[in-house]
Amino acid sequence: MEVVILGGSRPIGKLAADAIEELLRRKPDAVLGLATGSSPLPVYEELAARHATGLDFSRASGFALDEYVGLPDGHPEQYRNVIRREFTDRINIDPANVHSPDGSAADIPAACDAYEAAIAAAGDVDLQLLGVGTDGHIGFNEPGSSFASRTRIKSLIEQTRKDNARFFTSLADVPHHVITQGLGTIMDARHVILIATGAQKAQAVRDFVEGPVAAICPASVLQFHPHATVLVDEAAASAL
Ligand code: GLP
Repeated sequence: MEVVILGGSRPIGKLAADAIEELLRRKPDAVLGLATGSSPLPVYEELAARHATGLDFSRASGFALDEYVGLPDGHPEQYRNVIRREFTDRINIDPANVHSPDGSAADIPAACDAYEAAIAAAGDVDLQLLGVGTDGHIGFNEPGSSFASRTRIKSLIEQTRKDNARFFTSLADVPHHVITQGLGTIMDARHVILIATGAQKAQAVRDFVEGPVAAICPASVLQFHPHATVLVDEAAASAL
């Protein structure tokens, strides 16, 4: 695991965008793993700016990490809409090649299996962007998630619902259930870039970078990944 401490969100966004640009030049049909939350926003900002000056996404595809269960289609906080708004509508990726778990499927387990099959059929994720929750979750793999887990339905713990309540009118509106790629799914990505900024992430960063590899801290599984890059600002690195 490579940990890079940078001066703030802008240089973090640029460094992650450099890796994605290099990947796209080498492999124009690259498969990108897309994350929501505030952490990857500087990367999307930077990539949109680079697209405006010629970076081509026309042959790329994308797979979202996770999705809320039960939000009505078109809800602004449905992650499939967040990813469009924050990123894919701002570049020339084919919308048909941007995939999300189906959080309104009648048969959720079947939708999860179909999502896994779609990722495999695309040849697996080349570069996965990740944030980290204050409890060490990645995607929505809460503490206790199996390291072998695949895409499945999960319940959110109260802290995660509170952390995400800022995007909703009230805590009561935050869904209790989500679909998330599993830790095993995430570990199949060829390169993982995790971004964490701010003092509220310092403990989680310390736990997953320097602590034991343990299901209580899901991001710690990345210690076993052959190519994991952790980009942090000084506040998020302050407990290292
Ligand atoms: C949510 C998302 C995660 C994200 C986390 C942290 O729980 N499912 O993928 O990493 O929030 O979000 P933020 O980057 O806004 O701190």
